[in-house]
Amino acid sequence: MSLRWKIFSVYFVILIVSLASTGIYLFNNIYESYLNNERVTNLTQANMIANLVSNFIGVSSYLIEPTIVDYSKQINSRVLFTDVNGKVVVDSAGNGELEGKDINSYSDVRAALKGSGSTSIHYISGSGWTMYAAVPVTAKNDIVGSILLSTSIDDVMGFLNTIKMQMIYTFTAIGSIVSILSLIVADFITKPLKRLTDATKVISEGKFDYKVNIKGSDEIGKLAESFNEMGTKLMKIDDERKRFVSDASHELKTPLAAIKALVEPLISNENIDISLYKEFLRDINDEVDRMTRLVNELLVLARMDKINSIKNKTENISEIAYNVIENLEAIAKNKGVSLVFDSDEKIFADVDADRFYRMIYNVVENGIKYTPEGGSVTLKLSCDDKNVYIKIADTGIGISQETLPKVFERFSRGDTARSQKTGGFGLGLAIVKEIVDLHKGHIDVKSTVGKGTEFDITIPVKNI
Ligand SMILES: Nc1ncnc2c1ncn2[C@@H]1O[C@H](COP(=O)(O)OP(=O)(O)OP(=O)(O)O)[C@@H](O)[C@H]1O
Ligand SMILES: [Mg+2]
Repeated sequence: MSLRWKIFSVYFVILIVSLASTGIYLFNNIYESYLNNERVTNLTQANMIANLVSNFIGVSSYLIEPTIVDYSKQINSRVLFTDVNGKVVVDSAGNGELEGKDINSYSDVRAALKGSGSTSIHYISGSGWTMYAAVPVTAKNDIVGSILLSTSIDDVMGFLNTIKMQMIYTFTAIGSIVSILSLIVADFITKPLKRLTDATKVISEGKFDYKVNIKGSDEIGKLAESFNEMGTKLMKIDDERKRFVSDASHELKTPLAAIKALVEPLISNENIDISLYKEFLRDINDEVDRMTRLVNELLVLARMDKINSIKNKTENISEIAYNVIENLEAIAKNKGVSLVFDSDEKIFADVDADRFYRMIYNVVENGIKYTPEGGSVTLKLSCDDKNVYIKIADTGIGISQETLPKVFERFSRGDTARSQKTGGFGLGLAIVKEIVDLHKGHIDVKSTVGKGTEFDITIPVKNI
């Protein structure tokens, strides 16, 4: 069942139940109040006749019949007077048709002969709706008979029926109008949802730039807004992915082309000196190493993309940083670059040790790579209660202002780096940035061309 019909059905059921119960309650109240009125009137009249009759009993009994007949004409009701056994003594109707008959079977008469007034309503074919009202007749505190009044209440019942029909018509009309309105409301609520569902389909087909046009500050409006934001983000991610794949394949093509260029002359020329063979094979080996390094870095990045959280442990990060310096010492020495390490002995923070090592390694390695002979690279660690601060500064070639904002992007390389044929892929700092983000930290870079570069990394101490 669609949401539209669910909303409508709920509305409809609530409506029907509330209208029907209100209707029944109202009608019952009106019905009871009208009929009570009628009961009271009839019982009062029956009592008046019973009083008259009881005055005549034993004194002037001959007046009983004419009085009853006369009274019955005035109040427009049939009046029956029974003795104490329920046998009719006087019947005001026609020619006293029930006189001499026993009507003790009438429950109202039986009740009256036991001393209490009683009424009941009957439908009598030929006469229509009729109310019986019976009361006892007493003489000297003894019940000597009963008076039974039979009055037509056709007009009252007709009136009540008219009210009932009018209520049914009115409530049906209200019900229909509210049902139509609830259908419109259900439509109003579900249409934007339908549009959002359609939009999801469009997005799932890869059209990430598709936007739903739903305005408003309600929940659905906000949902549409987030949906559009999601589309924009997906588009960005998709663009990044495409660029990443094309950059990666381009990077892989370069060593492959170099290998091919080295292999082809070896195949086509017959009498090649063995030393040349060896030289070419060494070059091929270098290219294979380069490719392996690239594939490894791509794997690191791909793995990083898959993780959203890392398993941190409290580690002595000054020790990890010192290991980086130790392992890069030889490379720095070869290049004639001095490495300076400045840190307290023990600085602890919740980090993923391997990734943290790699983060510092990549930045320090860059420092060595992009600093000419005679320069220096400094790694400084400090901390307070909240964060640890890692500063890596070099006296190298620096990064131009145009390149600076892009250094953390994948495959971003400064022109200087290319011209120097340093052989980097432009992935090292992208990996650093991912690791900093995984540790909920922050990285900043400042640089002056020709003077040097400084990276400042801040990592929260508590990160578990
Ligand atoms: N300390 C630095 N001094 C000058 N330029 C730098 C420095 N660090 C990074 N860069 C510039 O930023 C670019 C991106 O650095 P990144 O480490 O991401 O790539 P890479 O070093 O070229 O290659 P690799 O993927 O091997 O690390 C570098 O190519 C270089 O131009
Ligand atoms: Mg690098």
